[in-house]
Amino acid sequence: MSSEPVVDLRDPAVLDDPMRGYDRILAESPVCRARLPNGEEGWLVTGSASVRAVLSDPAVRNDPTGLPGQGAQTQEEAFLALGTPPEHLPYLRASLLSLDGAEHTRLRRSISHAFGASRVEALRPRVREIVDGLLDDLGAAPGTVNLIDEYAYPLAMAVVCELVGVPEADWADWWRWGKVLVEGDPARITPTLGEMFAYCHALVDRRRAEPREDLLSQVVAQDDLTDVDAVALVVFLVLAGHETMAHMLSNGALALMRDPAQRELLREEPELWPAAVRELVRTDGPVQLARLRYAATDLEVGGVKISAGDAVQAVLGAANRDPAQFTHPHQADIRWQAEHGGREGSVGFGWGPHFCLGVALAKVEAEVALRGLFDRFPDVRPVAEPEWVRLPRGRHRVAVEVRLR
Ligand code: HEM
Repeated sequence: MSSEPVVDLRDPAVLDDPMRGYDRILAESPVCRARLPNGEEGWLVTGSASVRAVLSDPAVRNDPTGLPGQGAQTQEEAFLALGTPPEHLPYLRASLLSLDGAEHTRLRRSISHAFGASRVEALRPRVREIVDGLLDDLGAAPGTVNLIDEYAYPLAMAVVCELVGVPEADWADWWRWGKVLVEGDPARITPTLGEMFAYCHALVDRRRAEPREDLLSQVVAQDDLTDVDAVALVVFLVLAGHETMAHMLSNGALALMRDPAQRELLREEPELWPAAVRELVRTDGPVQLARLRYAATDLEVGGVKISAGDAVQAVLGAANRDPAQFTHPHQADIRWQAEHGGREGSVGFGWGPHFCLGVALAKVEAEVALRGLFDRFPDVRPVAEPEWVRLPRGRHRVAVEVRLR
C-alpha cells in the first residue's frame, strides 16, 4: 500500500455526482486504491463481478481483529479511537455486520425465521392497513406533502417496530436516534447510542418478564442468547429496517413519478412489482457502500493484488451500474430486470453471508406502498428538484415534496 490513493470518496465532486464519479472509476479500474470515508486508505471495489467475489469470500472479514497491517488495529481499538466509551463496545461487537463466520451465523439464525417468504407474506395485510391509513392522512393534508417524513418514514418505522415489538409510544425516539446516526456527528452519536442501549435493555427486561407475540419475545426466550445479543439485535434490526426502507421508498417513488412508461408497465402487469423493486434498488439504492471489510489473507480481486490486512470497500452503487453487467446501466428497465436480471441483477441488498435479511419484507413494503400511492393519487408529482443528502454511504434526498392532485 505505497502509491497515493487515486480516489477520495469524500471528494465534493464525487459526493455531488457519485454516478459520474463511479463511471470514471469503473472505466479506469474496477479495483483501485482510495481514501475511504473513515479517512483510512484501502481498496475500492466497483465492478459487479468483483463486488460479488469480495462479499462472498470467506477470506474477506468484517472484523479486522488479529489481521496484519492496518487491520492489526482491533475493532475495539478502532471504536475507542473514534471516542466510543468502553461500555458500548460489547453491543457494537455483537452487531450482525461486525461478526464473521460461526458467530455471525448463530446470531443471524436466531432471527432469520421471522424474515422468510411465507412469514413475511402473512404481514402483507397489516402493511396494507398501515399504508391505507397513511394515504388517508396524506389525502386530508392541504397543499404539498413531504413523502419522506409523511409517508415513507412512518410506514417503514411502523412495520419494523411492530415486528420486533417496539411500542408505538417510543417510535419518535427511534426516529430522532436514527437521524443522529445517519448525520454522523461523533459528538452526538455517543450519547445517542447510550440512550438506545439503555432503552433496549429495559425493553429486553420487560419482554423477559411478560412475553408477547413479537420477535423480541422470541429472542429473549432463546437460552443461548445473552442480553447483549438481544440488545444488539433490536438496535440493528430497527435501524436497518427503517432507514434504508424509507429512502428506498422515497427514491423509488420519485423515479416512478418521472418515468410514466415504467409506471404504465406496472399498472398493466402488476406481477412485475418484485422485479421493479430490484430494479429501483439497482438504479437508486439507498445503500451505496457495503460495510467496510478487511482481507484476512493476500488476495487477488479483478486481477489486482490485495494484501492481508488491507481495507476493502465494496461500492454497491457502482457495481449496480457496471456496463460490463448491465445493457443500460443508468436506465431503469423493469422488463429487463424481470427477464435477464436474475440473482446478479442487483447487489443493492448486498451479497454473500451478510445479504440483506429483510429483502422479502422490503419487497412487500415497497410494492404495497408504491402501488398504493400511485393507485390512490395517479397525478402525484414532485414540486421541485429534490436535493441529495451528500453522504458517501447512503443515497437519498433531504425531502421529496409532492403535489398529490
Ligand atoms: C443487510 C440493504 C431493508 C435488515 C443489508 C445489506 C444491504 C441492505 C446492502 C448488506 C450490508 C453489507 O453487507 O455490508 C437494504 C435495502 C433495504 C433494506 C436497500 C430496503 C430497500 C431491510 C429491512 C430489514 C433489513 C426492511 C429488516 C427489517 C437487514 C439485516 C442485515 C441487512 C438484519 C444484516 C444481515 C447480516 O449481517 O447478516 N441490507 N436493506 N433490511 N439488512 Fe437490509
